[in-house]
Amino acid sequence: MKRIYLDYAATTPVHPEVLAAMLPYLKDTFGNPSSIHSFGQEAKEAIEVARATVALFIGARRDEVVFTSGGTEADNFAIKGVAYANEHRGNHIITSSVEHHAVVEPLKFLEQRGFKITYLPVDKYGMVDAQDVRKSIGDQTILISVMHANNEIGTIEQIAEIGEIAKERGVYFHSDAVQTLGHIPVNVNELRVDLLSVSAHKLYGPKGVGALYVRKGTKLVPFMQGGGQERGRRASTENVPGIVGFGKAVEIAEREMSEEGKLLTFLRDKLIEGLLERIDYVRLNGHRTKRLPNSVNISVESVEGESMLLNLDLEGIAASSGSACTSGSLESSHVLLALGLSHEEAHGSFGSV
Ligand SMILES: Cc1ncc(COP(=O)(O)O)c(C=O)c1O
Repeated sequence: MKRIYLDYAATTPVHPEVLAAMLPYLKDTFGNPSSIHSFGQEAKEAIEVARATVALFIGARRDEVVFTSGGTEADNFAIKGVAYANEHRGNHIITSSVEHHAVVEPLKFLEQRGFKITYLPVDKYGMVDAQDVRKSIGDQTILISVMHANNEIGTIEQIAEIGEIAKERGVYFHSDAVQTLGHIPVNVNELRVDLLSVSAHKLYGPKGVGALYVRKGTKLVPFMQGGGQERGRRASTENVPGIVGFGKAVEIAEREMSEEGKLLTFLRDKLIEGLLERIDYVRLNGHRTKRLPNSVNISVESVEGESMLLNLDLEGIAASSGSACTSGSLESSHVLLALGLSHEEAHGSFGSV
């Protein structure tokens, strides 16, 4: 049976060029980048090349890119790092009600320790109103965290507008761009962010490596204490093959993103139209046009998402309902509930293509 993988929001396969770039760093060039001998320095050089590639791609300076173990660590680092470094200034953080668990959980953790969190509602497409952000800012607000695009429904948020407001009010602004890097343009200056989380495995890179962009001057406490790697901002011996693979994945995205985006948008729209025209009781979740080129999320009335997925899997088609991190749980997606769907409607949703 021919198998079709439609779950790129969960993870992507590693590009052959990425694998080829990584292999030497798993074999001969195995040195510890902190060692001063040539083995170490070759590894260090490779990290710095990858750092320059990632930085250039997002419009950052090289010393503003901190490699991490993935998007989850980048989100935790940004949120807890800013919260603890700025708690003398205030204890209020603003976020949206459709964030990934990698943002929601560190915020809940802070909430239990005295921070106040405002969860902004979204409209029926999953979009945050920038004016709601403006109205929620108070003199205790130290951080705003709103994702660039949603991992379940693909809606792209108005990050530049929110960033402008954050800048005007002198509040740090973080965005989780894990789903957008390599799929739509991500430029930290155009988006007006101070912190931005990215992850390699969503753009044909390896799993277990990502980065946090930290605008120069941003005060945040290190997430991991230990050695002085990453200029003292993230201790632990670097994942050299992973970082090299991440750099190569970004290089490929730079070359292919625009063409791939056009093709995926065409295929996405064809799939949406086909589903809506040919099948009754189907609705599209998320925005019709302000959505990721590689994302489709639909609800089918009276059909339970998990059973639909199992049946699709039997036909060789891999898709998902909700975020990969929560699949297997029978809870309704907090993202779909935030759009105003009932529990029944949310349970009948699958998507993430
Ligand atoms: C929006 C978003 N943020 C964060 C993450 C977590 O990234 P990672 O798997 O690299 O820890 C994901 C992964 O699914 C995601 O989609």
